[in-house]
Amino acid sequence: MEMTDIDLCDPQNFVDGVPHDWFTYLRHEAPVAWHPDPASIGGGFWSVTRYDDCVTVNRDAEHFSSYRAGAIFTDMDEDALAQQRMMMLNMDPPMHTRYRRLVNKGFTPRMIRDLEERVIQSTDDILDAVCEEGSADFVEQISAELPLRVIADLMGVPQEDRHLVFDWSNKMIGSEDPEYQTGEDAPARAAMELYAYADELCTKKRLDPHQDLFSVLTQAEIDGDKLSELELDLFFLLLSVAGNETTRNLISGALVAFFDHPDQWQRLLADRSLLPSAIEEMLRYVSPVMHFRRQAAADVVIGDQAIAEGDKVVFWHISANRDETVFSEPHSFDVGRTPNNHMAFGGGGPHFCLGANLARMEIKVMYDRLLERMPDLHLDGPVQRLRSNFINGVKHIPVAFTPSASIGH
Ligand code: HEM
Repeated sequence: MEMTDIDLCDPQNFVDGVPHDWFTYLRHEAPVAWHPDPASIGGGFWSVTRYDDCVTVNRDAEHFSSYRAGAIFTDMDEDALAQQRMMMLNMDPPMHTRYRRLVNKGFTPRMIRDLEERVIQSTDDILDAVCEEGSADFVEQISAELPLRVIADLMGVPQEDRHLVFDWSNKMIGSEDPEYQTGEDAPARAAMELYAYADELCTKKRLDPHQDLFSVLTQAEIDGDKLSELELDLFFLLLSVAGNETTRNLISGALVAFFDHPDQWQRLLADRSLLPSAIEEMLRYVSPVMHFRRQAAADVVIGDQAIAEGDKVVFWHISANRDETVFSEPHSFDVGRTPNNHMAFGGGGPHFCLGANLARMEIKVMYDRLLERMPDLHLDGPVQRLRSNFINGVKHIPVAFTPSASIGH
């Protein structure tokens, strides 16, 4: 293999599977490599693939800015950037610190605990809808449904509106995959519609607060500082995107991993106390978010490589999580793996996933209920993967299982 064989920009190269052999080569031969890309301003980007270097980029917001060019791979014009910078994902400290402290008020461990009962109920409702059939498209009917319902509950969106929010958020991120493409102006239109919806919902919450996250956030205050209406609406937008596709693809990707490693499913069936370590292994092995992007805010060195101010830097969680110097036998899927200090939620930097504990709880409940209710779940047709170099995604997983009666709640 040679460097010129490697093209991490073309989403087509992720359709048959994550190109792990390329990442392995890069970690060994060129851990901080200049990757040409005609579509990037500057003609390319620095591709960072080793665990330690990814953690460094993730933690050092002073040198690796999320604000300058956003945290997403695609370069944007100034207008688009100005909009994106109002979302916390694309902020740097101290602006990010202030925002994060305020939204943290709504994301307490207690809030997550209080949601668990609802998550169990939603999961059982989702499984009830398919359990008598004996077969399903696992992605469309099971894994996509749970995060959607949870986000709707969290934000206080009435259940009947949740598919509206889901469609807008799907269209907003746009997609490289032909199955989900909807035309060039669709992302902007969807963002406007979702924004208008958020604005109306937040106004209602302000006038008539309940226990949900948005009611809490409309009241949240630190030293007299509050989130403005605009900031709240944009947080709604970010959550509806950040909490859906990620969790869905973790649940889906982990199921494919179990189909490829049936002994690990049997191990979990026999010993449910392995569930906590299994969840961390699912996160490491799947790494639903494969990369994020930064812009060098000053001249800086990573590894032995000098990087100039203004250069684009892309760090690959998917590669860091298979780094053989950190994880023994990194390509094996081992539900009992410890330690497992993966960076699927980030490498401990200021943007560390705000929803990490919520996601863990959703995954735990879903797999607990699947093991209980569909222990002989198996593949019943071809898996279809998402065409993306950003989300390690699966679009369809035909599954079959012994039919059972719905349990109702
Ligand atoms: C398996 C599921 C998930 C994965 C793999 C994931 C992954 C990530 C990653 C890698 C980041 C960036 C971290 C960094 O740069 O340090 C992030 C940020 C974020 N995530 Fe998640 N996420 C998941 C689920 C969720 C859920 C359920 C929510 C909310 C309901 C959520 C909300 C957010 C938000 C708001 C941010 C931005 C935080 C900031 O900028 O300070 N995520 N997530």
